[in-house]
Amino acid sequence: MAGIDAFQVMDILARARELEAQGRSVVHMEIGEPDFPTPEPIITAGRRALAEGRTHYTPALGLPALREAIAAFYGERYGIAVAPERVVVTPGASGALLLALGVLLNPGEQVLLADPGYPCNRHFTRFLEGEAVAVPVDETTGYQLTAELVARHWGERTAAALIASPSNPTGTVIRRDELGAIAAAVAGRAGCLISDEIYHGLVYGERAISALEVSDDAFVINSFSKYFQMTGWRLGWLVVPDGYRRAVEKLVQNLFIAASTPAQYAALAAFEPATIAILEARRAEMERRRDFLLPALRELGFGVPVTPQGAFYIYADCSRFSDDSQAFCRELLEQAGVAVTPGADFGGYHSGRYLRFAYTTRMAQLEEGVDRLRRFLSR
Ligand SMILES: Cc1ncc(COP(=O)(O)O)c(C=O)c1O
Repeated sequence: MAGIDAFQVMDILARARELEAQGRSVVHMEIGEPDFPTPEPIITAGRRALAEGRTHYTPALGLPALREAIAAFYGERYGIAVAPERVVVTPGASGALLLALGVLLNPGEQVLLADPGYPCNRHFTRFLEGEAVAVPVDETTGYQLTAELVARHWGERTAAALIASPSNPTGTVIRRDELGAIAAAVAGRAGCLISDEIYHGLVYGERAISALEVSDDAFVINSFSKYFQMTGWRLGWLVVPDGYRRAVEKLVQNLFIAASTPAQYAALAAFEPATIAILEARRAEMERRRDFLLPALRELGFGVPVTPQGAFYIYADCSRFSDDSQAFCRELLEQAGVAVTPGADFGGYHSGRYLRFAYTTRMAQLEEGVDRLRRFLSR
C-alpha cells in the first residue's frame, strides 16, 4: 500500500464541502466528471430494465446486444469494422484498465506511460507487481508519448506502452501519424499498446483517432462515463486483440463476474440518435466553456502552451504565481473560493508548477471563478 497514493483532489473536494457547509461559496473546477445528468433515454431504458427484473448476472463478457452496439459504433464513428466478439463490457474504464494490464503484465515487467497522466494507471501497474515507467512529457510533444520517446525508454523488461488521447490532465490529443508511429514502435519491440480512449467524443475540432484505426493489436479502453455521462453507472468497455478473449474472460469471471446488468441495459439506449443528439449538444457546450476558460486563464498569466483539444481539462502552468501548486491550491480554495486540482495528482514531473482546471461546471460559475481568480491574483 506504500506504493499507492491517495488522490489529492479528494482532499480538496472534502475541504471545499466543509467550507460550503460553513456557508462559504466555492466554484468547483476540480471535479473530473461531467456536470450533466445522464441523458433521459438512457435513464428510461435503465428504469425499464429494473421494472422488467433485469437484475441477474449477464455473461462475463457482457450483454451480446450491447457488445454488438459498441462494435457497430466503431463502424459509425470511425468507419472501421470491429467484431463484437472482441468487445468486453467492463465496470468502467477502470475495470478495462485492470483487465488489460492484468492479462499483459508479469511481475517485474514495465509499462511506459506519460507523466503527467492519469494516476490510477501507475497504481494498477503497482498493484499487479509491475513497474510503471513515468516518461516525462512536456509541451514540445503536446504532453503525450511519441514513437521516439517509446523507443528511448523501452527496455528489456518493458511489456507495454499506455497512452490516453485526449489526455487527463492535459486535454491534448495524439495525431494519426504519431499514433501510427507509436503503434509501430511498440509492435516492433514485441510489446503491447494500450490506448485509453475514455475522452473520445469530447473533442473540439477534428475527431480523435482510435488506436484501432492504426492497429489490430492494441487494447482499446473506453467508457460510458464521460461522453455518455454515466459516471455513476460504472460501465465501460475493452476491445481486445484476437487471441486474448479467453484470457480476459477468465479474469472478468474471477474479478467481477460481469458488469452491472441494469447499467448494461440502460447503455443500449446510449447509441440511439435521440441520445447522440443530446450528447452532441452538450459537447458543443463543453467547447463553449473551453473557449471561454482557456483565453481567460492565459490572460490571467497562467501558461497553457498547447491548446487542449478534448476532455474537459486545462493543465495550466502557475509558476508565475507559485512553484508549490499544492500550497497554491489550498490558498485558492481558502482565500479565493476556487477549487482546482494540483499537478501532483498526475505525476512528479514539474508537477509543482501545474494546476488542472476542469470546466465541468456551468458557464456562469466559470465566469465567477475567473473573476475570483482575477481579484485574488491582483492582490
Ligand atoms: C484517463 C482516464 N481513464 C480512466 C478513467 C476511469 O473512468 P471510469 O472508470 O469512470 O470509466 C478516468 C476517470 O477520470 C480517466 O480520466
